[in-house]
Amino acid sequence: MRETFDLPELDLSGSHLQNIVDDDDNPWLTLGIMDNIEDPDLLREWGRMLDLQTRVLGPRETAWLRSKGFGRDSVGVIEPGSGDGNFGAFLSRSFPDTPVYGLEANENLVARFDAASAPRNYGIDICTVGVDPLPERLGVGFDQCILRFVLQHMSDPTPLLKAVYEALPPGGQVFVIEEDHSFFTGGGAWPPYAAATDAWSRVYEAGGSDGAVGRKLPALLTDAGFTVRDFDIVLRNNVEMGEDFLELFTQASRVLHHTRPDLLPGDVLRSIEMRFAEDAERHSSAFVATYPQILLRATKP
Ligand SMILES: C[S@@+](CC[C@H](N)C(=O)[O-])C[C@H]1O[C@@H](n2cnc3c(N)ncnc32)[C@H](O)[C@@H]1O
Repeated sequence: MRETFDLPELDLSGSHLQNIVDDDDNPWLTLGIMDNIEDPDLLREWGRMLDLQTRVLGPRETAWLRSKGFGRDSVGVIEPGSGDGNFGAFLSRSFPDTPVYGLEANENLVARFDAASAPRNYGIDICTVGVDPLPERLGVGFDQCILRFVLQHMSDPTPLLKAVYEALPPGGQVFVIEEDHSFFTGGGAWPPYAAATDAWSRVYEAGGSDGAVGRKLPALLTDAGFTVRDFDIVLRNNVEMGEDFLELFTQASRVLHHTRPDLLPGDVLRSIEMRFAEDAERHSSAFVATYPQILLRATKP
C-alpha cells in the first residue's frame, strides 16, 4: 500500500496572490521572478539551480542542438539572458569552434560568472538586449542565437525576439529551449511533487513569469518574423532521470521559497525536501512524474 504523508495546508484559492509586476514604465522589461534579483541568498540558490539545470538537462539539449545544426558553419552565436554563464560555458565547451557571446541584463548574475575557468570561446557582457546597443565586440559578426529559459521570465517576450530578429542576418537561426508546466503524473498523486509543482505555478503567477511559455513559442517566434523549422516537446521524467529529477524539483522549490516565502513557506519546503529524500529509492517504481521541455529552431527568412 502506498504511504501518504501530510504537507502543511496550502491555500489554493489564489485570493492571496498579489501581482508584484511593476509594468508602469516599460512593460516588457519586467523579468518575472528574476526581475532585478540582488538578495545574496536568492542569488546563491539561483546559482545552484542554474548549475543543476546545466548538469542534468544540458547533455540532452546539446545533443538536440547539434542534430539541428547549432554552431555548424557559424561565425558566432549570441546568448541573450546568459545568467551567470554556467550554461553558456558548458555550451561553448561542447562547441569549441564556435564563439558564443553571452549577454545578460542583471549585473549581479554577471558578477558570479567564473571568467577564469570559462572556455576561450565564451564571455559575457552586461547588456539588456532590445534596450541597450549590442557590445562593440559583436561587430565581428554572429548568425545564430540561443535563448534558454529566458522568455519564460519576460512579461512580454516579443520585443526581445524582434530585437534578435533585427540583429540576425537573413538566414540566421534562433534556437529556443524552454519548459512548460503541463506537469502530470501516473500512479496517483505524489505529494512532494504535487506540492513543488503547485508552488511553482503560484509563485510564477504572482511574480509575472510564464510557466506556459513553451506551448506559446511557435506563435511568439512567428509573430516576431521568424519561420519555425523544428519544434519538439521532450517529456523528461522521474523514471529516466532518477535522482536528478528529485534534485531538480527540490532545488526549484528552494528558489521558489527564497523568491516568495509567503507562497512557499519554510515548513512546506522542509516537507518537500524530506519526502523527496525519503522517496529516493522507490519513486521510479511507484510514480511517473513529468518535466516537459520544449525545443524550437526558427530561421530569419
Ligand atoms: C533563468 S535565467 C537563464 C540563464 C541561462 N540562459 C541558463 O539557461 O542557465 C534567465 C536570464 O535572462 C535574463 N534576461 C531576461 N531578459 C533579458 C534581456 N532582454 N537581455 C539580457 N538578459 C535578459 C535574466 O536577467 C536572467 O538572468
